[in-house]
Amino acid sequence: MIEFQAVRKQYDNGTVAVHELSLSVQTGTITVLVGPSGCGKTTLMRMVNRMIEPSSGKVLVGGTDVRERDPAQLRRGIGYVIQQAGLFPHRNVLDNVATVPLLHGRSKQEARRRAGELLELVGLPQELGKRYPAQLSGGQQQRVGVARALAADPPVLLMDEPFSAVDPVVREGLQDELLRLQDELDKTVLFVTHDIDEAVKLGEKVAVLRQGGHLAQYARPDDLLADPADDFVTAFVGRDRGYRRLSFVDPDGVRPEPVATVELGTKVPPEPRWRLAVDGDGRPRGWLPPGSNVDGELAEAQLVAGGSLYTEHTPLRGALDAALSAPSGQGVVVDGDGRLVGVITTDHVLDVIAQHRRGVGEGLP
Ligand SMILES: Nc1ncnc2c1ncn2[C@@H]1O[C@H](COP(=O)(O)OP(=O)(O)OP(=O)(O)O)[C@@H](O)[C@H]1O
Ligand SMILES: [Mg+2]
Repeated sequence: MIEFQAVRKQYDNGTVAVHELSLSVQTGTITVLVGPSGCGKTTLMRMVNRMIEPSSGKVLVGGTDVRERDPAQLRRGIGYVIQQAGLFPHRNVLDNVATVPLLHGRSKQEARRRAGELLELVGLPQELGKRYPAQLSGGQQQRVGVARALAADPPVLLMDEPFSAVDPVVREGLQDELLRLQDELDKTVLFVTHDIDEAVKLGEKVAVLRQGGHLAQYARPDDLLADPADDFVTAFVGRDRGYRRLSFVDPDGVRPEPVATVELGTKVPPEPRWRLAVDGDGRPRGWLPPGSNVDGELAEAQLVAGGSLYTEHTPLRGALDAALSAPSGQGVVVDGDGRLVGVITTDHVLDVIAQHRRGVGEGLP
């Protein structure tokens, strides 16, 4: 869908921002450009919609050299999202989004209706439409920015550090939302970040750039972490890359075991083993240590706070964390509703990882 062919960009002051770089971005995928500040990510991205012209080489979108396209018309097929969302401060949220369909010749009423649909699509309540951008949180503004970029239903979406100005928790929510949206919409997304965790989470493929606009490696995230091409990439993906790879191990190999439970609000005789306390809905509340003498009915105050909970079928990192953080040595597994499924040990999680490695080694899926 997007192809860079030996693209080079030298600015008037002599800075080489992109050095003869070739890269192709597959239709319907999220491709991430990642690298340190000043390595040419924004420059490369802006050549796609002709905000910047290459000094030499070609950029093709949908098989056509962008230089043969009228810039205004080209940009209609390319949504663009930037940090801080770039919203018009003096227009309310609904009108910010409606601007795009209006530009495309829709009536005012139709444009507003479409804008309303888009706000819903990105998870914003309709009543926010009447507010002005300054009256929204950073994360909400980013969602509006995404809604506006999607307004013309462009096949291509360029996103330049769209989530870097929001706090980590909101950021994670926005990333999940983008993955969900992408599942639904199937856009070709080129996403820029300098955060390797974000790159690995979002990208079907990740291009690591280094200073001077050189492509250091272009690979699937799992391969990037498993087999960095050189010292630069190794340093960039970080020391805990092995741990990060757990995100790519199929979590369905996890087989939770039954665990002894006790229910809050009931009478509990002592027993020489750890027992997991659950509430009336079967949700874990903490651990009762071996030999505990419970006077009367079991209350929360008598429990040892449990470790982290692992939600089944989510990345294995969480399973290992649950097992390592549980006071009983048994990581608690819950279903999507937070109800107890069973427990796992670190040994079991390590077995699942070992099996995955053997599978990869033998070339199995
Ligand atoms: N208009 C310009 N004129 C001259 N040099 C520029 C211009 N725009 C960018 N540069 C330089 O080109 C290089 C690449 O810049 P670019 O903005 O593409 O980097 P980046 O990877 O997006 O960085 P960041 O992560 O900080 O956003 C930098 O050295 C920058 O200083
Ligand atoms: Mg940039």
